[in-house]
Formats: sequence, C-alpha cells, structure tokens
Amino acid sequence: MAKYEELPIPIFSTLEPVYGEGSQLEEAKLRFDHLGAKFLQVFGHPPDVFARSPGRVNLIGEHIDYEGYSVLPMAIRQDTIVAIRKQRVGEDQKSLRIANVSDKYPMCTYSADPDQEVDLKNHKWGHYFICGYKGFYECVKLKGLDIGEPVGLDVLVDGIVPTGSGLSSSAAFVCSSTIAIMAALGSNFSKKELAQLTCECERHIGTQSGGMDQAISVMAKSGFAELIDFNPIRATDVQLPAGGTFVIAHSLAESQKAVTAATNYNNRVVECRLAAIILGIKLGMKPQEAITKVQTLSDVEVVCVSFANSHGSSDPVVAVKELLKEEPYNAEDIEKITEEKLSTVFGHSPTSLDVLKAAKHFKLYQRASHVYSEAKRVHAFKDTVSSNLSDEDKLKKLGDLMNASHYSCSVLYECSCPELEELVKICRENGALGARLTGAGWGGCAVALVKENIVPQFIINLKESFYQSRIDKELIGKNDLGLYLFASKPSSGAAIFKF
Ligand code: GLA
Repeated sequence: MAKYEELPIPIFSTLEPVYGEGSQLEEAKLRFDHLGAKFLQVFGHPPDVFARSPGRVNLIGEHIDYEGYSVLPMAIRQDTIVAIRKQRVGEDQKSLRIANVSDKYPMCTYSADPDQEVDLKNHKWGHYFICGYKGFYECVKLKGLDIGEPVGLDVLVDGIVPTGSGLSSSAAFVCSSTIAIMAALGSNFSKKELAQLTCECERHIGTQSGGMDQAISVMAKSGFAELIDFNPIRATDVQLPAGGTFVIAHSLAESQKAVTAATNYNNRVVECRLAAIILGIKLGMKPQEAITKVQTLSDVEVVCVSFANSHGSSDPVVAVKELLKEEPYNAEDIEKITEEKLSTVFGHSPTSLDVLKAAKHFKLYQRASHVYSEAKRVHAFKDTVSSNLSDEDKLKKLGDLMNASHYSCSVLYECSCPELEELVKICRENGALGARLTGAGWGGCAVALVKENIVPQFIINLKESFYQSRIDKELIGKNDLGLYLFASKPSSGAAIFKF
C-alpha cells in the first residue's frame, strides 16, 4: 500500500468527509453555496472544482523546521477555499482573474504566463495565488509532464484563517490555490510533492519557510496532531491525550512575516547557518568545506554530539556552550573564523544579503541553543504522548514542555513580543497547563493547553483579563472575540471537491 504522503489529495463529492457534521458542516455549506453563487455572478459561469486547505497551530517545535528538525503541529478548523474554472476556447484564455468573497480584497488580474516576474515592490493579495501558479508549473516542468499551453483561469477565494496571526493563513492560501490549479488543469500530485512545491514556491513572494505550514495543511488528518519530519517529508499521527484542549488566543499584535523578514524570520535563518558553519569549523572542518557543506544545525549535530560525548554528555548544546561565545558576534568576528566575507558566503541568496545589511550583530550561541533544545522537546512531547503515564500526568508533562518551549523562544530566540508575553502569563494564571507563542512569533497567537472541563471559564477569564480593555479601546469589535479566542480540535487536511 502506498504511504500516506505518497497518496494524492482526496477528491470528495460531499462536504461531510472534511467538515464532519453539526455547526461546522452547516457553516461550510453556507460558504460553498455563497462561493458558487458569487462565482457565477462575477464570472458568468459556475466553477469547475473547489479546493480547500486549512491553517495550523504549532503545538511544539518552533523555528526548527528550516534547520531540518521535526515539528508537531495540528490543522485547525479555519481554512481557505478556492473555486476555480479553466477558461474555455473562445474566452479570454490569457489572464488569471482572482477575486475574493471579501470586499477588502479587490480583484487582481495577472497574465497566464507562468514565467512572469512577481512585482514584489507592489504587494497585492493575489501574489500568493501567483506564487502557487508558478510553483505548479515549475513542478510540471521538473516532472516532464505535458499539460499543454498555459490557459486563463477564473478564481474566487474565501479564506477564514485570520491573517497575521501565526496560524499560517498564507500557507492555507498558497496550498488551496496550488491544489485548485492542479485540479483544474487535470493533474494530481502526491501530498508530499505538494507540500514540497508549496514550501519552495514561497520565495516568489520574497519570504522563506521551513515547510511545516504547508506540510500540515496538506497532510493533516482529523483527530490527530502530526509529527512532521523533513528530508524526506513524512507525517506521523499523534493522538493527543483525553481531557485536554488547545485554546488559541490572538495577542492582537500582527505578525507580518513578509514585511519584517530581514530583521526577524530570515535573520534567524542566517544566524542558524552561521552558528552551524562555525561549529563545523571548530569541530575540525576546513572553513571552505564548512561553507559549502553545512546548511543547517542538523548538519553538524553528529559532530556536536561526539564532542558532547567526550565531555560526558549526549547533548549537542554542550558543544554550543563550549565552542560559541555568549556575547553577540559581529561580521568581522565571524569572517575571521570563516576566512570568507559573509557577503560571499550568502552571495547566492538575495534575502540573506538583505539580512546582512540590516544586522548589527549575530547571537549565534543563543539561537543554536534554542534549536537543539527545542528539537529535543518535540521528541519528548511525542514520547510523552505515547508513554504509559495516565492522561492527567501526560497533560501536565506536555504543558511543562510547552512552557519550556516558550521560554526558549522568548529568551534565546527572541521571537516573542510584549503582547504575547502578557497573554502567555494570563493563560498560565488562569489554569493553563502550558502556554506558548505559536508560529513565527513577533506577534500572532499563543496556544494554551487547558483541561477540557475548565475551557468555558478559561475563555471568560481571558476575555476579562486580556481582551476587554482592547475591546474598550476598539482594537477589536465586541462581537468578534470568537475570531481571536477559540478552542480547537485537530482538523483534516487539504481536499478537492467536485460536486
Ligand atoms: C513560519 C514558517 C514555518 C516555521 C515557523 C516557525 O510559520 O513558515 O516554516 O519556520 O514560522 O516555527
């Protein structure tokens, strides 16, 4: 039997397999009906097919996917649905018309040429679609498939994953777009291929990604969190213990990954690479060898562990503590070790060169300590779930691991912000077994592990202690709280609908 990751995206003719029953199904029915009707109204034809892909909350394993380490997210209920129709002979056939059910997003029109450049200086919401479009054609070319000349497409989008929330609204959009394009043009790639291609194509909109968001959006299963491994991409079901619920709470600070890339997300990717290169050199590699061979901290883990072994430990952090200095490095400090200009080391990557321009110093000791310790916590989380402990004890341990992860993100990786710190503290004060920022950080959401029986009271308490003052200041509308604070069960992954 083919492995789960090798299977194609499932195609359904009813909504139940994805949306289950009850209010979630009712809401989905309304959205699909509305999408179909609006499509007809905007384009004069019904859509050929629909695709949906969900947002995610990462339970543990932050900022380590791009270093090659496993992460443990689950899909959330909120998703993006894309309705699509291939333009027929006699119609325009040369343009991509991308509309949105929300008036906030005006229709964007692009050429149907997959080789078009994306105008990054002039950011438009439709760029995310084009990023999937280009990625799809790149993959077609790589696989040597013949799908004929590019044709025009009409597209209508309905996304309910809150943007800037750290819940991967952009991955939900890029994945649902790519899958819709694929379905409309008659191919069906495997989940694994889609996870890979949607991750790689993010570069077309000037951001980087480690692949977690796309992998979980494509591969999630209802009722399970997933341990996602990379190289090769693989998802392993993780059944969470009974009696606990994850509550997601927005700090109301917007996390703008694309805008802050050079100083935040992409900066950390560069710092990790530098830490890995220096560790490689200190542990015996020639500078040039380290520069060419070492991409991530996982590449030098084995040598760090051997070093630790000779110091009576198996923890790679021992090597970090002994071989990197705690004070921030400046470019000259690093260039003395690498015997190469940093602009040459990163010469092939324009986004990394932007990081170098913006960076005053590099905190290599702190970033590497976070990555190695967070990678361990992911496995401790998974091992706890499958241990013989009682559910009660499991939940307590998972909460402790989440708290430790937050501390590391906040103090060592410095990807928190005052609003997230306040929110995490309030979650803990109100009985959360553990709480942490989730996603890239610098704003966005926190996730708290809460005993099921106190969830309603927990939500009331958070409303009073965190949100009420913000409602009073009109930062959010009083009827919108449900968009920013909600309990979530593990939902299902991407799907195609043909009715
Ligand atoms: C973003 C990226 C992911 C991951 C997280 C941090 O969501 O897209 O790949 O790196 O940040 O864990």
